[in-house]
Amino acid sequence: MTQTALSDKKEGIPLLQVALDYISLPSAIAMAVRVAPFVDIVEVGTPLCKAAGVEAVRAIREVCPDKLVLADFKTPDVGGLEAQLAFGNGADMMSVIGGAPLATVRAAFEVAQQENKEILMELTGVRDILARAEEWREIGVQRMVYHRGWDEEAADRAWSDDDRSVIGRLIEMGFKVTVTGGITVESLPLFQDLPVSVIIAGRAIHRADDPPAAAQRLRSEIHRLWGQQ
Ligand code: 5RP
Repeated sequence: MTQTALSDKKEGIPLLQVALDYISLPSAIAMAVRVAPFVDIVEVGTPLCKAAGVEAVRAIREVCPDKLVLADFKTPDVGGLEAQLAFGNGADMMSVIGGAPLATVRAAFEVAQQENKEILMELTGVRDILARAEEWREIGVQRMVYHRGWDEEAADRAWSDDDRSVIGRLIEMGFKVTVTGGITVESLPLFQDLPVSVIIAGRAIHRADDPPAAAQRLRSEIHRLWGQQ
């Protein structure tokens, strides 16, 4: 994986991941080519996985050969097979939805172990995050995505101290935490005192007037804020 590539990065500075939440593969490929030079990880977004299938994973891997690629499957069942599909088509990481049964998490995790890749637990909609995290830790999962979903954001769910506190607890438990959900340059300082591993930005990059400049600005702001510590 990935573990090697991730651990090569500068200690303490979160990586930047762009989420390609498209339903058109050609549009996603065009955007990946433009912004990949300014990010660390390229995410094949869930809508893209559903619209274009594993062909999307394969195509993004092909146009971003030197980037980490995450397949955001948000897998709810058939974890082993979906992990094989993600990794077999070039992904370094894939996500499993937090509501999935432990058997599904274990099945995806075992394939990831065999392939030297990683899975991430996606926390959208999970209410008892800390209790579930204990169970995922027993399986061996190391990464999770703390996510304010698009629909929650549209329903006016703002980031809160409760979010920050749960993220902090997960990091204390030893998890590597990715934060996402409508992140912009302006919202980065909310997480600045937390040693998060990865920050995902989707719309803030691909819907910007100048996506490469938006990605560059996010990356330099991440370096400025986390580099001060
Ligand atoms: C939606 C997702 C998105 O990829 C994630 O929210 C990042 O995109 P944005 O920065 O636009 O919110 O997983 O379910």
